[in-house]
Amino acid sequence: MNLASISENRDIEKRIAITPEIAKKYINLGFNLTLPNNYGTYVGFTDEEYKNLGVNFLDNEDEIIKNSEILIQLGLPIEEKLSFFKENQTLIGSLNTFVNKEKLENLKLKKINCFSLELLPRITRAQSMDILSSQANLAGYKAVVEAFQVYERAIPMMMTAAGTIPAAKVLVVGAGVAGLQAIATAKRMGAVVFATDVRMASKEQVESLGGKFLTVEGSENLETEGGYAKEASDEFKKKQEELLSETLKKIDIIICTALIPGREAPKIIKKEMFKNLQAGSVIYDLAAVQGGNTEFTEVDKIVEKNGVKILGEANILNKLPVSASNLYAKNVFNFISNLYDKENKKLNINLEDEIIEKTLIK
Ligand code: NAI
Repeated sequence: MNLASISENRDIEKRIAITPEIAKKYINLGFNLTLPNNYGTYVGFTDEEYKNLGVNFLDNEDEIIKNSEILIQLGLPIEEKLSFFKENQTLIGSLNTFVNKEKLENLKLKKINCFSLELLPRITRAQSMDILSSQANLAGYKAVVEAFQVYERAIPMMMTAAGTIPAAKVLVVGAGVAGLQAIATAKRMGAVVFATDVRMASKEQVESLGGKFLTVEGSENLETEGGYAKEASDEFKKKQEELLSETLKKIDIIICTALIPGREAPKIIKKEMFKNLQAGSVIYDLAAVQGGNTEFTEVDKIVEKNGVKILGEANILNKLPVSASNLYAKNVFNFISNLYDKENKKLNINLEDEIIEKTLIK
């Protein structure tokens, strides 16, 4: 089968969907793989490296699309490229079904099979394909690195002849995949870490990483069957606000990661809470694109309020595109291995398989 990928819009996406390591795996599985010239050059993967593994290169991306049976991407290609897609082709990526609803509807009408991997069920068998986890893990790590870089004091406690430097105190809001990696990263650097979440299951995970869990008094467990967070009640929000307001008096750095699937991110760090933070504190808001967990977050800007810097970016993964591409490419390869019928050398879109059924846009 002919498998391909075309260049992403590099102004917004620096990751690639097929790394040389994974190109080799596709070829070993029997796929013909075609990429456009300079596909991964800017992240250090030369055409030569791919060619030595047996990858074909073409200059014309429109031709690549027309000749491919499966196209693997990060985001949905631009309209002009989509017009070259034809019946029975398969497109796999992180297609952002909320934002691209109409465009995906049109592709479905053209009988193109679109699989969006952010829709994967959170089941054990899908873990190796889980792009949300692989990317959130890296995002959690990088958010801490970015915040520490802007923070103008040392992170670990240091006892020196000239005096003692206290350890920085970090608060992680939301202890899912990104939050747990943020806790681990901050701990490794010597920070004292506090964390909070609405899901009670996360308490044990936070504590196993050496973090101190802040429990909202008398709160019920706001977890859905799928393991995600539910919208909190007004009473919960008030209690959480009181608890965090008090905690902020001793906090230097906040890493925000709280999200509710399909909704705007909850506003957790309110305007009036900023007066409890000391000047020089730093907030990295990973929920920026979904509206932010603070009332001042702006995408791709460093906002300063009462001497507190608030950072948030459209795509923090663009700051570690090689690591992010390596994991993303592996996730997609594992997804395709499950979809591909090796004996008959064709895709088997078996809707009885939960992984296939949930990710196919219907
Ligand atoms: P997410 O990215 O949707 O949300 C991040 C975190 O924010 C979550 O822990 C959520 O509970 C928390 N949050 C939401 N509203 C909040 C509020 N008002 N205050 C404080 N915290 C708030 O979640 P993520 O990281 O994708 O993980 C969600 C769940 O999926 C977790 O239970 C995780 O263990 C599970 N999971 C399961 C996998 C599997 O079995 N294959 C793979 C990855 C995650």
